[in-house]
Amino acid sequence: MRLPTVAGAEVPTEYLSLADEEMIDRIEDHKARLGQRLVILTHQYQRPEIVDRGDYVGDSFELSRKAAQSDAEYIVFCGVQFMAQSAEILRKEFQKVYHPDLTSGCPMADMGDMDDVQYAWNQITEIVGEDRIVPITYMNSFADLKAFVGRNGGAVCTSSNARAVLEWAFRHFEKVFFLPDEHLGRNVGKRIGIAKDRMAVWNFRKKSDPLGGLTEQEIRQADLILWKGYCHVHAHFKLADVEKVRTEHPDAVVLVHPECLEEVVDAADAVGSTSFIARFVQSAPDGTKIAIGTEIHLISRLARDHPGKIVFSVKRSMCGNMFKISLHDLLYTLDHLDEGVNLISIPDDIRQDARLALEKMLQIT
Ligand code: 13P
Ligand code: SF4
Repeated sequence: MRLPTVAGAEVPTEYLSLADEEMIDRIEDHKARLGQRLVILTHQYQRPEIVDRGDYVGDSFELSRKAAQSDAEYIVFCGVQFMAQSAEILRKEFQKVYHPDLTSGCPMADMGDMDDVQYAWNQITEIVGEDRIVPITYMNSFADLKAFVGRNGGAVCTSSNARAVLEWAFRHFEKVFFLPDEHLGRNVGKRIGIAKDRMAVWNFRKKSDPLGGLTEQEIRQADLILWKGYCHVHAHFKLADVEKVRTEHPDAVVLVHPECLEEVVDAADAVGSTSFIARFVQSAPDGTKIAIGTEIHLISRLARDHPGKIVFSVKRSMCGNMFKISLHDLLYTLDHLDEGVNLISIPDDIRQDARLALEKMLQIT
């Protein structure tokens, strides 16, 4: 579900002529003036000048936990819509959550359209029975999909806790319907021991096929039914790219994000969330060569912050949505907090159900 907004997000033209130094000074003035009343959360993929203004930088799990723990009156979330929505769902009564560019969406979250998901769920549960299967959604989904998962007893997961959440799910249910990232689901499913022939992929694009390209038998046999969504930023990395790095830099360690294709993850030395990657680079000894398969802004910032290490990308891949939030957007939002510019709001019924799924994740991990 795309975000409803209270006020338009268009930055007035007078902001566009401001120099970076002036915007940074004004943002820092707001932070000093508001003190503990304001918290700025920034995702690892944000532009470096935005990360540098944040109170916290983290992966999507760390930021959702920070949002849930914060007592700040104003939570300004610099990430993409689904992350800011999650902060809005978890916020306390007196808090307000802002997203400095409400148009920063996510093509993978768009792939989890609720009509398609509800249709698939109805078909699957008719075949296997509702009490044997639970839906799990990746954080990278909109609030209405999280609400569906909450209503049906499931949980949200992120790239850093997907294993723990899937293990929880399989302790309580025979089968899991995993949305919307096929690759994260498969990579984690494989690591917890689910055999290839016990995974099935529901292809929501096959509209004319009543069972998403599967047979009744395949649905009955599958322990893990994966939704055929993907992140184009991570699906961009191919096995040949990792092999090229291995040939050209045989001394490099290869790190990739679990949204990458199965063969890319299998060929890497380590796999983990954006913060796992950041921590790995931080703790590596000087001189270590590290090739990374994830969004380019994180890699560039890690290279900037760790000049003693050789940090480079497996191949350049950028998330245009993560790039959207600029100093202009952040300053404009902070200048108009009480007017509700870029304020997020979610209908109460969706919020309540989605909260169940997010809180379950926070309990599990
Ligand atoms: P994490 O922050 O969980 O690593 O997720 C990366 C991502 O794709 C965010 O959009
Ligand atoms: Fe969506 Fe991928 Fe961008 Fe994350 S990196 S916001 S999953 S498109």
